[in-house]
Amino acid sequence: CGIVGVTGRKDSVEILVSGLEKLEYRGYDSAGIYVNNNQKQAHLVKSRGKIADLKKKLIPEIQGSTGIGHTRWATNGVPSIENAHPQFSTDERFYLVHNGVIENYEELKQEYLSDVSFASQTDTEVVVQLVDHFVIHDGLTTKQAFKKTLSLLKGSSYAFLLMDHEDPETLYVAKNKSPLLIGVGTDFNVVCSDALAMLNVTKDFLELHDGEMVVVTPKKIEITNQDGESVHRDPFHVDLDPKETDRGAYPYYMLKEIDEQPAVLHRIQKTYFAEDGSLKIPADLLAAMQKADRLYIVGAGTSYHAGLVGKRLFEQLTQIPTEVVLASEFAYDNPILSDHPFFIFLTQSGETADSRQVLVRVNNEWQAPSLTITNAENSTLYREATYQLLLNAGPEIAVASTKAYTAQIAVEAVVAKALGMARHISTAKNFNLNHELSLAANAIQAIVDEKQTIKEIAHHNLAKTRNAFYIGRGVDYFVALEAALKLKEISYIHAEGFASGELKHGTIALIEDKTPVIAILTQERTASHTRSNIQEVKSRGAQVLTIVSENLAKPGDDIVIPTISELLLPLVSVVPAQLLAYYASLERGYNVDQPRNLAKSVTVE
Ligand code: G6P
Repeated sequence: CGIVGVTGRKDSVEILVSGLEKLEYRGYDSAGIYVNNNQKQAHLVKSRGKIADLKKKLIPEIQGSTGIGHTRWATNGVPSIENAHPQFSTDERFYLVHNGVIENYEELKQEYLSDVSFASQTDTEVVVQLVDHFVIHDGLTTKQAFKKTLSLLKGSSYAFLLMDHEDPETLYVAKNKSPLLIGVGTDFNVVCSDALAMLNVTKDFLELHDGEMVVVTPKKIEITNQDGESVHRDPFHVDLDPKETDRGAYPYYMLKEIDEQPAVLHRIQKTYFAEDGSLKIPADLLAAMQKADRLYIVGAGTSYHAGLVGKRLFEQLTQIPTEVVLASEFAYDNPILSDHPFFIFLTQSGETADSRQVLVRVNNEWQAPSLTITNAENSTLYREATYQLLLNAGPEIAVASTKAYTAQIAVEAVVAKALGMARHISTAKNFNLNHELSLAANAIQAIVDEKQTIKEIAHHNLAKTRNAFYIGRGVDYFVALEAALKLKEISYIHAEGFASGELKHGTIALIEDKTPVIAILTQERTASHTRSNIQEVKSRGAQVLTIVSENLAKPGDDIVIPTISELLLPLVSVVPAQLLAYYASLERGYNVDQPRNLAKSVTVE
């Protein structure tokens, strides 16, 4: 979910709505705003669906100088107007937007609110009714009631923005585990779950820490910590041009972001290579990594898949054993760690709650060093890791990740090469990464220039099918996993990525007449084996398509990609798969950028 708030601006409705549009990537099943004009005239507007649907309900009379807004990715309670935020107390005095999950809301409801009739199924309503309860029944001030309520939510994740009809210029703010920033203005202030939402009105932001509570008015920002002590914090400046988030002439962000991949690789080269070809990786990071006897790469979704490719890069270039773990699993495992583990967090958004949960354990329980590789400077995982490197991929807006995946692989390669050099590993010394990244960028450019061919393949093979398989071996298998995820996410085709050799051990039972099987072949050592697996599925009626590097291509292959170093071929072989998913989604008439049920940044566990 995404949240926004503003106080001290006559154009608060416009600010809230444009902020919510920027945050739609966090969820878009329902949305709402509450504004108050400081003369106690207030408006609450909610709608199912996207921000565009909310906008249709915003007649000109709806104005205010203070307000809060929310775009939702449903957790507790189906997407509906009742369950959309802001949630409010029965007496319509308090209004609340919330990101996160309140774990003990049923218990709180029973203990304090047995006489209240609830309008929604949300955990959030329990919180706003509790504040009201402590104000009305116990005579507490709003601030005291809010504080007391927060103290009852232990262990839960939340970013809250609360408004009191009786005190219409104040935003009551609190955060635990879910991201939240205060944007600083002159005679106004804003609050948002991502700086992107408010770059039009300010570029100076204050980060909030877990357990903090803040009272925000047009002229004041008062932060207090869990113990009630006031906290001073200096703002940081976000240097991002809001225009970077424009779609330009593209029909969808996803296509723009696929096309940007060569430019992203060039930017990574510029960032991480000095003029003389040496690598610009901080010495203290390399020193810490050199002490490691094992690397643990942590990620979710596409970032996990980029981690799988990274394992090969790290093991080959540094000779340090590397494990890749799913954040949501590892957060609750009892792993037997090596003596000197080093953790690498891959996260486009820097806010994924599952990954952050692992980082909390790394810091508190295992006290091990960590590196976050992210696209979001100052995000939670960026701030809380020991070391941090940026992807510099530019904002990725489409929910299905493309350029962040390739950027993650490229930055992993940079770190692996630097560490391998520091360890005097010959494969690292002999690997001309800068040159190979240029070749990869050119190869991707050649593929995106020929996207028409891929569009036709999608039209003929993926427009109608219910199922599809991607197969490959080694890193081709890892790319197959990512390729299948792309197809599932945006075209809703049931797709699986499979290790080619494993298909015959059971899953081949699913191959029917014309089932598309897309084989990725870029690794010389295993290509002939995958060719045999292709024959096996063909004999059972599959419609086989191939994505093959030029050096391994044979007559009849479908998509031939330029040959570059095998270690970096995932950067290239994934691109036709991204385009296949994009065109399959278009063929089937879906909203490519905002697939159903998903959110780009998932800030609940
Ligand atoms: C969400 C997105 C995925 C993404 C995953 C991890 O589920 O829908 O596309 O791969 O989160 O996100 P991160 O920001 O940590 O890379």
